Amino acid sequence: AGTATVEVAALAPDLFRVGLFLNGRPLDYTSEAIAKMEWELTQVQSSSANGELSLCTGAARVRISLDPLRIRFEDASGRVFAEDDPERGMGFFARPKVGGREEALGPAVRLYKRHPAGERYFGCGERTGGLEKTASHQIFWNIDPPGGHNPGHNNLYTSIPFIVAMQDGKAWGLFLANTYHVEFDLAHEDVDCSWFGAAGGDLIYYVFCGPSIRSVLDRYTELTGRTPMAPLWALGYHQSRYSYMDADELRSVAHEFRRRRIPCDVLYLDIHYMDGYRVFTWDRERFPDPPQLIAELQEQGFHVVTIIDPGVKVDDRYQVYLEGREQDFFCKTADGGEYHNVVWPGLCAFPDFTSSATRAWWGSRHQAPLDDGVAGIWCDMNEPSLFVPFHSTMPDDVVHLGDGDPKLHAQIHNLYGSLMARATREALQALCPDRRPFVISRSGFAGLQRHALLWTGDNNSWWEHLWMSVPQLQNLGLSGLAWVGADIGGFFGDTNPELLTRWMELGVFQPFCRNHSALDTRRQEPWAFGEPYESIMKKMMQLRQRLIPYLYTVFEECHRTGAPILRPLFFENPDDETTYAVEDEFLLGSALLIAPITRHGDEYRHVYVPEGTWFHLWSGKQIEGPSHILAEAPLGEPPIYVRANTPIPLWPEMSHVGERPADPLTLLIFPAAGQGELTLYEDAGDGYDYQQGFYSRRRITCETSVDQIIVRLDERKGSFVPERKEVHLEIREVPAPPESVHVNGQQIVPEYDDGRRTLIVRLPE
Ligand code: GLC
Repeated sequence: AGTATVEVAALAPDLFRVGLFLNGRPLDYTSEAIAKMEWELTQVQSSSANGELSLCTGAARVRISLDPLRIRFEDASGRVFAEDDPERGMGFFARPKVGGREEALGPAVRLYKRHPAGERYFGCGERTGGLEKTASHQIFWNIDPPGGHNPGHNNLYTSIPFIVAMQDGKAWGLFLANTYHVEFDLAHEDVDCSWFGAAGGDLIYYVFCGPSIRSVLDRYTELTGRTPMAPLWALGYHQSRYSYMDADELRSVAHEFRRRRIPCDVLYLDIHYMDGYRVFTWDRERFPDPPQLIAELQEQGFHVVTIIDPGVKVDDRYQVYLEGREQDFFCKTADGGEYHNVVWPGLCAFPDFTSSATRAWWGSRHQAPLDDGVAGIWCDMNEPSLFVPFHSTMPDDVVHLGDGDPKLHAQIHNLYGSLMARATREALQALCPDRRPFVISRSGFAGLQRHALLWTGDNNSWWEHLWMSVPQLQNLGLSGLAWVGADIGGFFGDTNPELLTRWMELGVFQPFCRNHSALDTRRQEPWAFGEPYESIMKKMMQLRQRLIPYLYTVFEECHRTGAPILRPLFFENPDDETTYAVEDEFLLGSALLIAPITRHGDEYRHVYVPEGTWFHLWSGKQIEGPSHILAEAPLGEPPIYVRANTPIPLWPEMSHVGERPADPLTLLIFPAAGQGELTLYEDAGDGYDYQQGFYSRRRITCETSVDQIIVRLDERKGSFVPERKEVHLEIREVPAPPESVHVNGQQIVPEYDDGRRTLIVRLPE
């Protein structure tokens, strides 16, 4: 195409890649975002007629008209999507100067696609605002937002330039693999057109043809990588604060959890554990004996996670700084000096994570915290966030030497957080090869899910932010980042008893469940406000802890297929377009529907219940979807619905994952005419033996008719054998004692609880 080269490739039957390379630039698709570069050859039929080329994979087709160059896609049903705008297609244009370095960046690139009426956009990763992104302009540039999270400003700490488009139940997706400043205009300037642009670099995009939303996510996460299996303990409850100031304070928080029997698995140390905020050090006055403290906490079943920021204090007596300086590991100014800016410790230098030697050095520094017993690392401020000017980031012309291919910061800015997380994960993996690394990150780019989980940064203790977290977490899940959570209770500002309790009612269903709050804010541990709040939160936290086998099963599905853990209703009901606008409810896996209360004083709310039969968890009331209902939801009874006939695996009550009593495993079932199933996944909960078949996968079905309920537990697949001896079926809303109950053909005496209308059947494992 003139002085440019355009390449269109079918990587898989439902995945195409398009690259536009200007002025003889090499066709290079390597990107930190991409996990899979090598694809098996896909059979394509190519044809050419009437100035149009076409590649057909059977599942989908790309049509390329040559003059002018326009590209469009079609699936086997003839649905046309991602069609170039007839007027504009793709190209480049002169761009406003960026830091006087425009030659290095090259011209800005842009792609225009038609927006058919009725096509609706979702995804875009970590955003403010609501679930649907149609008619919005999205910016992809990682920042620590100076004004906090607010809908007038959509980019936050993490950028995932990926959309999922939905129409008539069918989905397609588009990922712009470009780490420069990126913008998407989603039928906002022009209702008939969307554009996808970057401030420089090559124009490379991937089209996911679906047609199911599941297959879009499956391919997208095959391309950019899947969420590795979590260590089981990480699915428990996490308690944090900026900061638990010294060893005694941390001990007393731990003590309160255990004394009150409120479940908790993980405690966090924020920046005050360090000596003057110098990373990889301890403040020996506040924490005189870290290994002893951590060992003590471990004994009580806690894991301790410490924060690490990228800023290294410029200090001639500080070993980490001296090593980095001597070995040239820090980012450079345009004239070759060390780039400095201010963060918590004062003036800092910043590791150049684009260099593999720097990553290895940074990684090796984690030996010390691991030796001290630290169980996981929390990567923060890694946009990077800088204090001069307030909440800024690195100037565009900072130089990253990388591995011999220097880049300006403007070219890799959005990768900085992901690269720090990568260095951390790789280190944890190398230093503790038998453990699954636990890394949490604030910043990242597409593909971050391979390295770390994400929390959504500094929200406020506001009802508005409780509400906003619901669409925010759903869009993250739709963008490949499924292990996510917002700070429960809100970070900035003082929470209050009702807000914290309502937040906990939602937060226990977040894939990552952590309570965290800022310096000088009111305490927000679950007991902070006394009764009735403490008991309600405890009940919700116990529910989460009991749900871990279910959560782990859903997590493994995500690890294997890219399906989000916390998902929008339309993920399961794409043909019901009413669900496209349901942004304040979500599904956890496919069997639990959660409709949190997000406003002060509300004790009722509207709930859209999607197709199927559902049961209200607290009252056992049966609801037939699709329907709009008014749910009663006093504090302590948030609207939660369980899909009929789907067995929900539950552990006994416990205070932390390590305590897990082996028996029994409960299968909670709400039967109703029809059938349901779940394939329970279990493994050792840490390590990698599951990759050699040391896991257990067991399909459990429930078939209900007018006069009988049949529950089948299939043979286990895999070599892992859970320790327990008993499985209890807890069958709810059984209106009368059954005439007979048979286990493996043998009649047994039924155990029926009239009051709870519940039938218990005890089975050997
Ligand atoms: C940042 C983080 C926050 C942390 C604070 C102090 O604001 O987002 O979670 O508590 O820094 O380290």
